[in-house]
Amino acid sequence: MAILVAARFDADDWARWWPALDAAFPDEVLIRDRRDADPDDIDIALLASPPPGALRGLPRLRFLQSLWAGVDSLLADPDLPAELPLARLVDPAMSDAMAETALWATFGLQRGFFDCLRRQRGAVWQQPDQPRPDEIHVVLLGLGEMGRCVARRLLGQGFRVTGWSSGRTPTTGNDAAIPHCAGPDALDALLPTAQIVINLLPLTPATHGLIDARFLARLPRGAGLVNLARGAHVVDADLLAALDRGDLAHAVLDVYTTEPLPAAHPYWQHPRVSVLPHTAAQTDPRSAAPIAAANVRRWRAGQPVQALVDRARGY
Ligand code: NAP
Ligand code: GLV
Repeated sequence: MAILVAARFDADDWARWWPALDAAFPDEVLIRDRRDADPDDIDIALLASPPPGALRGLPRLRFLQSLWAGVDSLLADPDLPAELPLARLVDPAMSDAMAETALWATFGLQRGFFDCLRRQRGAVWQQPDQPRPDEIHVVLLGLGEMGRCVARRLLGQGFRVTGWSSGRTPTTGNDAAIPHCAGPDALDALLPTAQIVINLLPLTPATHGLIDARFLARLPRGAGLVNLARGAHVVDADLLAALDRGDLAHAVLDVYTTEPLPAAHPYWQHPRVSVLPHTAAQTDPRSAAPIAAANVRRWRAGQPVQALVDRARGY
């Protein structure tokens, strides 16, 4: 049998991925072009933004492994076979990278560095207010693989942190010490206490557009927003209005409803927005390929695979 790598990769991406995949799957036949294999021979697909139709007409396909952590676009793909098990990527190296980005953004907001960079444009010399970390309450939307790693690192730096989740997955072990709460009413109560909100939720019907005018109005004046999850969590017009009024001090954005962010989008030029190009936690083939391979081995051995997506929940 063979494994199809269904990916919308350019030549540079393939040059990074192929050696890592080749090394991680020494006993498997890997193919990157469907025409190189009999469709009857393909029983597993590794998925990284698969091209349209990539999974059509594969009668013996049985297991799907995403090479991305978020599966919102995969689940929206009408060609994704609905009945097959789908595992997403859970890579501790990615969680570390995400935590580094979250720390950078949090320090930038706490120390007023984004304000300094904005004033640089006008040659304005002005030292910002710099509250201590223990005077800053960071609210983390999502306390999953990434959110817990971010929470641990922020707590380690002395910030006050509260995680918010749906409450389905209990935090266990050391993570049980992360202050957290669950559900819409708890979020309503939490937002007025937040100086910084960091979004690490999956994009699902329940979280789509969560960060809207009502959400932003509950934050204290001068709060900062860091969106590292998906662009469609945010209602762009509502965020821009909150920034223009000065209700929200600054937004650090890594993800957008349309990517790449169109050149004419107001975020690019907005003085209170820092734009990152979906780079908060890139997938590193060196760690991701062995993780995907271990899951494939589990599946072939009839063992439980890790990080299975719950299709009904959407993550
Ligand atoms: P995860 O392990 O699945 O964690 C998801 C968290 O969100 C869980 O705490 C979950 O709570 C919570 N949640 C889900 N739906 C909720 C709702 N309706 N209300 C409240 N809480 C809800 O996901 P992850 O691995 O941490 O990744 C999170 C997201 O990061 C991904 O989906 C992806 O969009 C994004 N991401 C971005 C980048 C980047 O470079 N910018 C890179 C990787 C990932 P329960 O478990 O209690 O249900
Ligand atoms: C990146 O955004 C991912 O979901 O892996």
